[in-house]
Amino acid sequence: MAEKDAYPLAPANGHARNDAESAAVHADELRRKKRIKCIIYLIIFVVFQSIVILVFALTVMKVKSPKFRVREASFSSFEVNPGTPSFSMKMNAQLGVKNTNFGHFKFDNSTIVFSYMGIPVGEAFVPKARARARTTKKLTVTVDLTSTALASMNSQLGTDLSRGVLPLTSSSKLSGKVHLMKVMKKKKSAQMNCTMEVNTQLQSIQNVKCK
Ligand SMILES: *[C@@H]1O[C@H](CO)[C@@H](O)[C@H](O)[C@H]1NC(C)=O
Ligand SMILES: *[C@@H]1O[C@H](CO)[C@@H](O)[C@H](O)[C@H]1NC(C)=O
Repeated sequence: MAEKDAYPLAPANGHARNDAESAAVHADELRRKKRIKCIIYLIIFVVFQSIVILVFALTVMKVKSPKFRVREASFSSFEVNPGTPSFSMKMNAQLGVKNTNFGHFKFDNSTIVFSYMGIPVGEAFVPKARARARTTKKLTVTVDLTSTALASMNSQLGTDLSRGVLPLTSSSKLSGKVHLMKVMKKKKSAQMNCTMEVNTQLQSIQNVKCK
């Protein structure tokens, strides 16, 4: 009876032998199931890990160019003569370096140039510094704006100064690196390209727009 039962599993040699083989087959089956389970867990883990890495790559590790702009400005001296026409003023400009990255942006010395109708009328030094992660670094520069280079612009300048609105542009470029997690560095530059108006009656700056 026992021999008959065991027959399909193995060519019968003895009762004990058949039982052992049956147990071995069972154990094999268990091991196989365990292995499949293990592989499934591994696949789930790898997929999950890949999603985490992908999200990380798309957010934290994605390095964007910081933004550099003129925030506001005031004047510590102000002379405007629509008749000549000419101007001479000392402007204290507050600049902002907006760094949206998850690491600080360290930039080198630079200059900022203010122009009227494309002709430079003043320049200032921008000292090297760092903008911390996800902050806006504010810095102030003092620049002398004069009309000495604008001889060829006399009629336009006369009109603007009589109107009381002097349009200016400012441009600059901060070259530097975004540092991520103390190990990665990526070269990035922050380009400034702003337009603004000096209101000569109010002796203030208005309509600052930056690209
Ligand atoms: C940046 O400017 C500072 C102050 O003027 C100067 O000492 C330094 O040498 C400059 N660095 C570079 C890299 O030009
Ligand atoms: C500033 O923007 C204007 C308009 O897009 C463009 O014509 C000009 O070349 C830009 N200047 C700089 C220095 O990027």
